[in-house]
Amino acid sequence: MKIKILSVFGTRPEAIKMAPLVKTLDEHEGFESRVAVTAQHREMLDQVLELFRIQPHHDLDIMHHGQTLSDITCRVLQGIGEIIQGERPHMVLVHGDTTTTFAAALASFYQKIPVGHVEAGLRTYDKYAPFPEEMNRQLTGSLGSLHFAPTERARESLLDESVHGDSIFVTGNTVIDALLETVRENYVFSDPLLKELDFEREKVILVTAHRRENWGEPMEEIFSALNEIVGKFEDIKIVFPVHKNPHLQRLARETLGGHPRVHLIDPLDYEPFVNLMAGSHIVLTDSGGLQEEAPALGKPVLVMRETTERPEAVEEGTVKLVGAKREKIVREVGKLLTCPKDYERMANALNPYGDGRASLRIRDTLLYYFGRRREMPEEFA
Ligand code: UD1
Ligand code: UDP
Repeated sequence: MKIKILSVFGTRPEAIKMAPLVKTLDEHEGFESRVAVTAQHREMLDQVLELFRIQPHHDLDIMHHGQTLSDITCRVLQGIGEIIQGERPHMVLVHGDTTTTFAAALASFYQKIPVGHVEAGLRTYDKYAPFPEEMNRQLTGSLGSLHFAPTERARESLLDESVHGDSIFVTGNTVIDALLETVRENYVFSDPLLKELDFEREKVILVTAHRRENWGEPMEEIFSALNEIVGKFEDIKIVFPVHKNPHLQRLARETLGGHPRVHLIDPLDYEPFVNLMAGSHIVLTDSGGLQEEAPALGKPVLVMRETTERPEAVEEGTVKLVGAKREKIVREVGKLLTCPKDYERMANALNPYGDGRASLRIRDTLLYYFGRRREMPEEFA
């Protein structure tokens, strides 16, 4: 009998990081791989499904503009619950820290179907930062039967919380699997604006900002910092693909629209986005995933948050936490633009998050867990 796995995801980053794993399971004869998307995101999810050619077996299509955390939780709990009842998989796989992740894990627990948590063990131990992701992770961890930790540090956090060591596997992060498959030298952009960028002659600062804890005043500080930076430094261009959230879109256009060297664009498809990152000079972000991707591409990352659940690259010196206050953001970007030594110190290609084989390790762990492999893969020995 094949091992029936139901992979559940709903937002852009989950889709990017689950895509390589879904493909790896699809390709192995030992698995019946099923996919359910909640579509907590719609367009931003669909572009990833298209790129990686994933056709979900179930699509809850839950996204509403102005959706609250309770809306998402209720719809996912109910909808995924029904899908699990129909599918009766051997295991449900969820990824990371979104509300889809937590609610799908809870739905699975209610039906006594074991949960495999991909990207487990990231922690800040601050309940409200990142919000609600820290608690989504902790709660999903409590519900999980298998924990796929991307790094040794994440494994240690789980052990500290008394998670049984036999259920934790350090696999690397599947984000690197996706990245290595997608970044190409001499990538040609089809978007006319990106095509015109000359990465050799002008310094491109790639910006993304969307986190809930930055909504309101911190986001206004961030946008006013961007205005100041572009006013101060004439040799830079800011490219800012703005998250689809209408509230953020409005604020960004009101505050930043109109400057000829600030390009506010719609979210990019994953392929042009990571290739744009590869050409950029600096990455300025509050995103989680970019803290993993940019170090692998040797790009200095300034993170506009007070804490991070991804301390590995901070410790290595490629990522720096700068908070969400105008003055500090301007000062730190200024240092990187004017002090080559500071820049070089941060621009190291390093990759504490994996070698592109995380999906294979997760697949082999599943084979072992379900008794289809006698030995654990050698890499875990
Ligand atoms: C969600 C996750 C966050 C993750 C982020 C990745 C939760 C609580 N938050 O936050 O952890 O870092 O995704 O981007 O799970 N929208 C669209 N089209 C889309 C996507 C979003 O229009 O394709 C708009 C909708 O109006 C939606 C709003 O954005 O209501 C917010 O989406 P939501 O998933 O609730 O929150 P995010 O901030 O995207
Ligand atoms: N990303 C993308 N297009 C964009 C911005 C980001 O494809 O315009 C990708 C990025 O490469 C990363 C992921 O989306 O893999 C990060 O998602 P996001 O910032 O929405 O969420 P987070 O990582 O903060 O949870």
